[in-house]
Amino acid sequence: MSATDGATQNVIPGHLLKGQKALVTGANSGIGRATAIALGRAGADVVVNYVAGREDAEQVVEEITAHGVRAAAYEADVSDEDQVVAMMDRMVGEFGTIDILVANAGLQRDAPFTEMSVAQWQKVLDVNLTGQFLCAREATREFLRRGVVPEVSRAAGKIICMSSVHQVIPWAGHVNYASSKGGVQMMMQTLAQELAPQKIRVNAVAPGAIRTPINRDAWETPEAREDLLRLIPYGRIGDPEDIGYAVVGLASDLMDYVVGTTLYVDGGMTLFPGFATGG
Ligand code: BGC
Repeated sequence: MSATDGATQNVIPGHLLKGQKALVTGANSGIGRATAIALGRAGADVVVNYVAGREDAEQVVEEITAHGVRAAAYEADVSDEDQVVAMMDRMVGEFGTIDILVANAGLQRDAPFTEMSVAQWQKVLDVNLTGQFLCAREATREFLRRGVVPEVSRAAGKIICMSSVHQVIPWAGHVNYASSKGGVQMMMQTLAQELAPQKIRVNAVAPGAIRTPINRDAWETPEAREDLLRLIPYGRIGDPEDIGYAVVGLASDLMDYVVGTTLYVDGGMTLFPGFATGG
């Protein structure tokens, strides 16, 4: 259990997403894991996608089913078209449909610009951007096939793209990652505009520094933590659950009129904290 979890774990209404089917990509660890569990706690049935780390994914499934909903772990590489199509077919076959896609799977392959290989560039674009494109396309095809089911949700489907503060904050040494997230922002807004008439809501969550394996270097030592906290006005590093709760809210009908928005969940990282004393 994380620091914030005790304070907030009982506030998710277990009926908020009742009867909805959610797919979370990259759900075997970090933000994806916490999001999948939060969706389950809100009453959704959840497909836990992973590309490696089957045991971790199975453990997430166990945690979710403990809340009295269905869950299953599906292996698929989100950057591979055939695997994404097969994953969605399987989900529709086994769960009936999909109501919520959380396009979360993402990775970093950091390098100074002049040392960055095409392989590092391409891998990050393939997973972080093309992966979201493919999952969103397949989910949308199913949303359109099924249409709105008013007893389940006011929308025909919800897509939540996992972005980052780096969709707007440039990040030296991470040009592949920042470019992928900048792409996610424009992809999300374009899809939101294109699909809103069909009652599909597309939004993004942009996490700041969340304590997960992806940024271990940034929080593991006291010195690194101190540096990092200088960038976070709210004075704490985020927990994966902070993101899970934001996704639950955005996916629910409480936010039915929220379309094409990025919800920054970053403790104020995007508020130019350097200007609190300068400028
Ligand atoms: C990155 C993390 C980083 C955070 C804030 C995230 O998108 O994946 O490595 O700590 O942004 O800079």
